[in-house]
Amino acid sequence: MRLDKPGEAAMSDDKLIDAAIAVRNNAYAPYSRFLVGAALHDADGRLFVGCNTENAAYPQGICAEGGAISAMVAAGGRRITDLVICGGGDRACAPCGGCRQKIREFGTPDLRIRMVGPEGDILLVRTLADLLPDAFGPEDLDAA
Ligand code: THU
Repeated sequence: MRLDKPGEAAMSDDKLIDAAIAVRNNAYAPYSRFLVGAALHDADGRLFVGCNTENAAYPQGICAEGGAISAMVAAGGRRITDLVICGGGDRACAPCGGCRQKIREFGTPDLRIRMVGPEGDILLVRTLADLLPDAFGPEDLDAA
C-alpha cells in the first residue's frame, strides 16, 4: 500500500482511509502498544497524515491527530475537510478530549470524522459537533 507524501493531492475517500491505515504502521508506541494513525484532507484536497509518537517521559507523547494537524498547518493548510482515525481492534478509536479541541480549531461543526479499524472497516462516523458540542473556538475570542 502506498503512503501519500505529505501535501500530495488526494481526492477519494478510500485514499484517506488507506493513508490512515498505512501511517498507523509507523506509530511509535512502545509504552502503550496502542497504535493510531490519522489522515485528513485540507480545503485544497491535500492529504496529511500523523501517527502517535510516544516518549519515555510519558506526558510528552503526541497523538496521531495532532501530528496530522501540525503537518497540515506547516504546509499552510488551515481547514480540515475530512478526517479518518485508525486504531486497533474492532472498537473505534475516538479522539481524546485534547484532540477534539485541536480538531475544532480547524474544523467546522459538520466535519465528518470516521473511525476505522486496522483493515479499514468503518466502526463509527461522527461529526465534530457530535464529539464536541457547544465547543469553544476562535470565534469566541473575537466575540469578547
Ligand atoms: N492516542 C492517539 O494517538 N489518538 C487518540 O485519539 C487516542 C489516543 C494515542 C496516545 C497514546 O500514544 C496512545 O494512543 C494510548 O493512549
